[in-house]
Amino acid sequence: MYQIFETIVFLIIVGIVVLVVAKLFMRDLRRKYDINIGRRMFITSLIVAFLMLVLISSIFLSSKYRYSHEYYRDISSGVFLSEIFLTIPTRRTRFSVEEALLNRKSIREWRKDPVHIDDLSMILWAAYGVVENIYGWYRRTSPSAGATYPMEIYVVVGERSVATSQGFLEPGSYKYDPIRHSIKLIKKGDLRNDLYIASLDQEWVRDAPVSIVICAVHRRTTRVYGERGFRYVYMEAGHVGQNIYLMATALGLGTVAVGAFYDDVVAKIIGASSDEEPLYIFPIGVPNIRFVNSFEYIERFYGEMRGG
Ligand SMILES: Cc1cc2nc3c(=O)[nH]c(=O)nc-3n(C[C@H](O)[C@H](O)[C@H](O)COP(=O)(O)O)c2cc1C
Repeated sequence: MYQIFETIVFLIIVGIVVLVVAKLFMRDLRRKYDINIGRRMFITSLIVAFLMLVLISSIFLSSKYRYSHEYYRDISSGVFLSEIFLTIPTRRTRFSVEEALLNRKSIREWRKDPVHIDDLSMILWAAYGVVENIYGWYRRTSPSAGATYPMEIYVVVGERSVATSQGFLEPGSYKYDPIRHSIKLIKKGDLRNDLYIASLDQEWVRDAPVSIVICAVHRRTTRVYGERGFRYVYMEAGHVGQNIYLMATALGLGTVAVGAFYDDVVAKIIGASSDEEPLYIFPIGVPNIRFVNSFEYIERFYGEMRGG
């Protein structure tokens, strides 16, 4: 709404400026050089000048909104109960990327242990955190078509499930704010059982101390790319998901991509707004059995495949 109002005001100002400049220019031409532009020619150039300015200003306005802090706030803000600032991301593991890839596995059985909030902080940052600020354009850990960043990340925290320096995080549904690297409490209560039922009774969703729910605001991408934007959004969910897998693995935690659930029920449980569509659930916890792989195994495998 605010954008439409600002655009109209902007266009009116542009129109007035074009008229005044054209009038002065006409008078100057007539007075100084005795050149008289015909009425039709004058109106045509006026329309062309106006259209060009509209084009330039609309490009300016759209890029201003696309990359501005307000743009993200505009869509992702909402009512929240409290905000928790997460520890600023830093080097927390000794795993290399190749070791994380080697040991990545979908984990569905967890120990009773809670997840530490600093590990959760690293996983959220890996999913969608900021890596660079280019004049208010917040580049993330995951690539995004046209830097439209359509994802909104929710975290469902169970009772005594996320350990903090003071005890445990209050159970509930939180929304990740990538720009402030904080989580905002949206709904109170242990919602894991509801999430388990909504995800077709997959026990790993009920038993994991914490679940990350990736939602998409499709129009952020489709308004730039049209129908093709839908394809881009699903691709991007995959990028975010893989980052979650790799960071969890590096931290000695486990996760599994869950795509089977009732979208509308999950949206209600986490307190998502009407334009946020849940795409993925990632239950996270300490694996019951840790998968430990080696490059020797990979060497043997490829050796056998090559008939060695
Ligand atoms: C799009 C997608 C949806 C998935 N949905 C589920 C799911 O609903 N429940 C589940 O237990 N695993 C789900 N998985 C995990 C796959 O079953 C798992 O990745 C596959 O068995 C390969 O095992 P790995 O991840 O350990 O290599 C999903 C994976 C993807 C990529």
